[in-house]
This record gives sequence, structure tokens and C-alpha cells, in this order.
Amino acid sequence: VPVSRIRNFSIIAHIDHGKSTLADRLLQTTGTVSDRDMKQQFLDNMDLERERGITIKLQAARMNYTASDGEKYVLNLIDTPGHVDFSYEVSRSLVACEGALLVVDASQGVEAQTLANVYLALEHNLEIIPVLNKIDLPGAEPERVIAEVEEIIGLDCSQAVRASAKEGIGIDEILESIVHLVPPPQDTVNEPLRALIFDSYYDSYRGVIVYFRVVDGKVKKGDRIRLMVTGKEYEIDELGILSPTQIQVDELHAGEVGYLGAAIKAVEDARVGDTITLAYKPAASALPGYAEAKPMVFCGLFPTDAAQYPDLREALDKLKLNDAALNYEPENSSAMGFGFRCGFLGLLHMEIVQERLEREYNLDLIVTAPSVVYQITTLDQEKIFIDNPSKLPEPQYRESIAEPYVKVEIITPESFVGTLMELCQNRRGIFKDMKYLTQGRTTLTYELPLAEVVTDFFDQMKSRSRGYASMEYHLLEYRENPLVKLDIMINGDPVDALATITHRDKAYNVGRVLVEKLKELIPRHQFKIPIQASIGSRIIASENIPALRKDVLAKCYGGDISRKKKLLKKQAKGKKRMKSIGTVDVPQSAFMAVLRLD
Ligand code: GTP
Repeated sequence: VPVSRIRNFSIIAHIDHGKSTLADRLLQTTGTVSDRDMKQQFLDNMDLERERGITIKLQAARMNYTASDGEKYVLNLIDTPGHVDFSYEVSRSLVACEGALLVVDASQGVEAQTLANVYLALEHNLEIIPVLNKIDLPGAEPERVIAEVEEIIGLDCSQAVRASAKEGIGIDEILESIVHLVPPPQDTVNEPLRALIFDSYYDSYRGVIVYFRVVDGKVKKGDRIRLMVTGKEYEIDELGILSPTQIQVDELHAGEVGYLGAAIKAVEDARVGDTITLAYKPAASALPGYAEAKPMVFCGLFPTDAAQYPDLREALDKLKLNDAALNYEPENSSAMGFGFRCGFLGLLHMEIVQERLEREYNLDLIVTAPSVVYQITTLDQEKIFIDNPSKLPEPQYRESIAEPYVKVEIITPESFVGTLMELCQNRRGIFKDMKYLTQGRTTLTYELPLAEVVTDFFDQMKSRSRGYASMEYHLLEYRENPLVKLDIMINGDPVDALATITHRDKAYNVGRVLVEKLKELIPRHQFKIPIQASIGSRIIASENIPALRKDVLAKCYGGDISRKKKLLKKQAKGKKRMKSIGTVDVPQSAFMAVLRLD
């Protein structure tokens, strides 16, 4: 097809507003996927994604569509991940498009995360087509939501489509809008090849499969390509389109979307955002906007059973093949033994990796509380970064500590503004702005230390607003604060994995509550266990876990075999997800206690 009849678009939607359902409908209506083959929600095909109902990895689908003008068009849908942790990937998939459908649930309204992605799309000059979805619902108020979109985003909604992905209403209208409103790609087929990588995954048989949009020039099977950021060269042994299953083709031109395989060993070598060019006739410059995804949150991963350490390393190595943003190095903790310090894009990324390690690799892990990266200025004015509280230099060696701040935007029904402001205030938030939107909906803007956001901020926001508020954040900069390290001792031994960095003014309270929590979470042993919190050499809180009562033990020692067995069985059960620190068994929950102090 000529470039003038190609349309590249993506769908921007908040979770549950119906992106996958609409994508399915488009594939079905254009006959791309037959009804029989239509597995529910073709686009997200990772199990974990389906279970959590979120889109993590982006994918693409090419559709053939004969429009009402009688012409045949090629529509490429490029899917975007729906979560803030993956906003860089979102930005790359948007850059690969000329337009986007903005899907908003007509019974709800615009949410914070949607806004962030719409701004991204506007920044890259995409044509945005508003789609009011779920108009079949009795509670749908498309006019109110249209007013909201116009007011918040300043988007002209005269062409907005009222649709129901579920009932198949408005689907033809959406397809016609894509054809008539989204501009075609520029015809730059005669320029040197430049193709933008917007996704990649590792296949154990074929190596890395790269998804890309040809921006300039053309690419053929057998071409020797160069990746402009990594500088690596490969020969293309497989080239194709996504329909949405992979179909091989010989050549792809400017404006088209496709995939390639070239015996690339790890996704790290073909990163999202990198530019593909031809080795013998390279483009003068790479496409703009490449950035390496930087881990923001770190935690320790330790096998409960030390013998599983090599398995953990192998599992991480394997996951890394498919996840360039995953970052890890060996860590040797005095309390926990051998493990890894791992860096993640955000909390969701962290949870996904943890879950995969346990589920797909059968590992039993202890995960320590997440930490952000602190910037330390030493006495001789050197700046160092630490991602592990236990590595914080003692006060006599440091001049100051700075921590990352983020700008948080919350959209909430008006009635929850008070409680959400209180939450932000409790988390050392700096109030920036409050705006009333339509009918009792409000946006709140705060600046907050990232460390306060990566704890249970999101959960708190959801529970305080009964699920109605949504949020989005992005990094601002490092700011100095009077921060101190809080050490925890169990049975007289410092436990480095429980050390935490906190604001001086909060330290006493955090210490006291944390010690109380640990007392609750750590089971009783045969002996009394003191638990202490200290700042430097100063103990600021302490509690004792009393020993198990004598009479229980006496009976046990009395030789009652069945009772002993029962007790042992109980112990064995309780042992799951425990780490022995000295002579004390500490459960997983204790390592996360610091996240749930209020
Ligand atoms: P993520 O993949 O998590 O981003 O969610 P999504 O936006 O893809 O939402 P999905 O398509 O999974 O739809 C969420 C829920 O809304 C599902 O239960 C759908 O059946 C339902 N749904 C989607 N479209 C409509 C619609 O037009 N009307 C009604 N009544 N329900 C819909």
C-alpha cells in the first residue's frame, strides 16, 4: 500500500476503561482475527497481565480496512502499557504513531494516568480522537465526560465518538475517524533507514524479537543492520508484520510497522528507543529521544534457603534477557547471607519481577522493603549514590543527604479532598495546586519525597477515596533533608536488611511503631527476644517478645508424641517464608513492616 493509505495509531485509556475490549473489536470488525480465533483480549498475552487486568508489555496489530471512500487502508494499532512505571515505553510507542484514540469510560471520566499519556501524545503532535466508551451503561454520561475532556485537556471534542466496545456500538465510526483524522506517515522511503524500536522480547529459540516502526527508508530480510545506540550489528534473518500473529514479509517501508529477528542475545542489546539503521549506509543521526530506563526503587532479594542462591542468580539472568530495565548485583548481608540488590522502575515493576521469580522459577524469597536512591555529599565534597540504607556513611563522614522528589497529581471526587490532603501532609508533601474540574471532581498537585510515595501511598490513596482517586507522578530532582538512619537490632544483633532511612522529625515515631510491629510479626521462640531501634548508638525504642510459655513446652517434653508432631507441623507451616537471623526466625512480613506504619 502507498504511504498515504497507512494510519498508525495507539489507544490511550485508563485501566478498565475498555482498551482491550475495543482493540478486540477493531481486530474483529476488520476481519484481522476471525471470531473463532478471537481469544478474549488478544492484545495482552502475558498471563500475569491478564490476571492483574493491566497491560504491561506493548504489542502491535496490523489491520486491513476498506473505508467508506472505497479505498483500502492499512491501520497499525500500537498498544501501550498502562502503568506509570513504564512511561518511557509509552512515550516510544506514541512516537511511533501519528494519532491516538483517547478512550474514556463515559460512566466515570478522565483519570490522572490518562492525562499523563494524553500530554505525552500532545507533546509529540499526535492527532487525538476522543472515544466515549461504555455508553451502553445506564450510568453513562457522555456529555458530562466530554465537557470534562474539553475542560481539563482543552481538546476539541466535536468529533468525539460515542461507543460501546462491549456492544459493538460506534466501531465503524472509530475506524472512519482513524482514516480521516489521523494523518498518514511522511513518505521518506528514499532516505537512509531509520526505524524506531518500541518494544522487544526474548524468545528462547529465535533470540530477541524487535518491534519497530520504519520512520525513514526501507529494510529487507538479509540486511545487515546497526543499532545506533548500542553500536551492535546483526543480520536480519526474519522480518515480518504483526497481524497480530507474526507473518513474514520480505521488505518494509517508511511508515510501516513490523518485527525482526536477528539472533540478538538479550533485549539489552536492542533497547526500546534505539534506532535501527543499515550497516553499510547508516543514517546521519539516530531518532531523537533515546533514554535508558533508570531504576528508581531498590530492594534486596534473598532466598529463604541459602542453597537456592545459584537458582536465584540463574532466574535473574533469564529474566534480564527479557527486561532491560531490571538491574541487579550480588549483595552480602551480615544478617541475611547471600542475595541480590535489585533495581526496578517502580513498585509495580518490582512486584511483577518478584512474582515471576516465585511463580515461574519456584523460588522462595525474602524481599526487603523498597528503598529509593539517596545522594550523599561526603565531607570532602564527593557525591555518592546509595540504594541501600545500610550503606549510608556514618554521620561523621557525611555532610548532607539528598533524596529524590516527585510531582504527584491526584484526581479525586471532591468529597475526598480533605483526607487526601491529610495523607500528602503526613508524607511530607508540599502543596502546589488544587483545581476544581466538572461536577465535584478535583485535581490535587503535591511535591513529595519519592521515598514516601513508594511505601503504601497508593494503597492509602485508594482506601481513603474508596477506590475513586487516581494518581500519577514524575521525578523532579534531588533535595537535601535532615535524614537519619534507623537501625534495628533483634536479639542484640543489628539486622542490616531492616535498616531504614527516615526524616529526623519522624524517626522516633517510626522507631517506636516499627518495633511494636516487629514484636507482633515475629513469632515467639523458646527464649525472650529483645527488639530495639537505634539512631547511631542511641536506642530510641525497645520491646521484648516474651518466651513461649513453660507449660506448653513441658507437655511437649513430656513425650506426648502426637502432640509433639502437631507442634512440629505447626512450626513447619509457620517456617514458610522465614529467614533465620542468628537464632531468630523472622517472617517475610517483618521485612515489609516499615511500609505499613500508619
Ligand atoms: P487494561 O488492560 O487493564 O488497561 O484495561 P482495559 O482498559 O483494557 O479494559 P478492558 O477492555 O479489559 O475492560 C474493562 C472492563 O470493562 C471489562 O470487564 C469489560 O468487559 C468492560 N467493558 C469494556 N468496554 C465496555 C463497554 O463498552 N460497555 C460495558 N458495559 N463494559 C465494557
